[in-house]
Amino acid sequence: MTDKTKSANTMWGGRFAAGPDAIMEAINASIGYDKRLYAQDIAGSRAHAAMLAAQGILTQADAEAIGEGLQSVLAEIEAGDFVFSAALEDIHMNVEARLKEVIGEPAGRLHTARSRNDQVATDFKLWTRDQIDAAITGIEALQKAFLTQAEAGADWVMPGFTHLQSAQPVTWGHHMMAYVEMLGRDAGRFRDARARMNESPLGAAALAGTSFPIDRHATASALGFDRPAANSLDAVADRDFALEFLSAASICAMHLSRFAEELVIWSSAQFRFVRLSDGFSTGSSIMPQKRNPDAAELLRAKLGRILGATVALFTVMKGLPLAYSKDMQEDKEQVFDAADTLMLCLAAMTGMVRDMAANRPVLEAAAGAGFATATDLADWLVRELNLPFREAHHVTGALVALAEKKGCDLADLTLAELQSGHPGITQDLYSVLGVHNSVASRTSYGGTAPDQVRAQVARWKERLG
Ligand code: ARG
Repeated sequence: MTDKTKSANTMWGGRFAAGPDAIMEAINASIGYDKRLYAQDIAGSRAHAAMLAAQGILTQADAEAIGEGLQSVLAEIEAGDFVFSAALEDIHMNVEARLKEVIGEPAGRLHTARSRNDQVATDFKLWTRDQIDAAITGIEALQKAFLTQAEAGADWVMPGFTHLQSAQPVTWGHHMMAYVEMLGRDAGRFRDARARMNESPLGAAALAGTSFPIDRHATASALGFDRPAANSLDAVADRDFALEFLSAASICAMHLSRFAEELVIWSSAQFRFVRLSDGFSTGSSIMPQKRNPDAAELLRAKLGRILGATVALFTVMKGLPLAYSKDMQEDKEQVFDAADTLMLCLAAMTGMVRDMAANRPVLEAAAGAGFATATDLADWLVRELNLPFREAHHVTGALVALAEKKGCDLADLTLAELQSGHPGITQDLYSVLGVHNSVASRTSYGGTAPDQVRAQVARWKERLG
């Protein structure tokens, strides 16, 4: 039943006799969350008013009253003195209604040649653009934390895994630098998205543009956009920028979840590869011996939330006819939550990476386990005895089986035992069975040799400044 006691909305209620039903107001109002856009909303309105005056659409006096009024509304919001009203639906109408209270009649002229459709697209883009900048800053801080670890441990050996089975020894620094690369692509995706999104929707008005002689280039540049969006229908209907933000955030969170998983494994009593600081571990209320990697576990889980937001917004946008539909109001909470989550994850991971201590003796002992230098043995046979790799692989396999039967490592086999695999084997072979020699030999570009790792570190240090 319509709530007849309420009066119609003062912003659009000219043709309405009664106000909305309480449930209508509850489903329709977005002020509960879109108040986060207040600064962008006010910046957009100031740019719009200044442009209207410059174009002779508003008097200079009205534009000044609007500009100053908006500044005082901004101050009220920042001081926490502003009373947000659900009856006024959203941030745009809340700000405008308050402006009217503060400056009176000129406030009603602000919405000339503009609609909430281009207004919300502009505000939300500005907000998302700020989040992109914050994400890049957060990513770079994390990259620096990984770089510090990599530099310290450029030559520390550890097992490299495939299938989570010991594969070949690698260096700690190399493993850390793998994440620096991933994060570098994440930052790149955010930068690409920023460059693509940086077109101003303002002045597209409701959907078709306006008959007023506005200057969209002026408002675009006042708000730091590269140019105005070229098609007014697209400008108000587009949420690609939000989808790109969420997609980039999802990939980044996926990367964080992979390292989080490694931390969970590495910090276990079975692995003991790393120790997380007390600051990033928790105890158990019943098992006194426990040190749980809660932060890493939560980081492993958070992608669920960010990816959930991504899927939600894709689902909102799917099949929407041009131009604006109210469905699109469902964009903001998803992006807000994903952005907050990503920033928290980046900060928490940075803290953990800075704090974590590699257990070098354990890493080194584990590096040689599981016949991890078998490939080095095979490579030696190819290099020194000119065996085809397939044959070398076969000979090595037989020697691994022999060591396994004896319950020892490859390096513990006697020369005679090694020669049972191939008579050409000499004492020299032992030099490649050690894990340090193994990693030092992998000098191919991007390989795990300490010198290669140091080169990677140097490249990234220069890039990150
Ligand atoms: N609160 C709305 C949103 O977030 C603003 C745009 C409303 N436009 C409209 N034509 N009702 O999408």
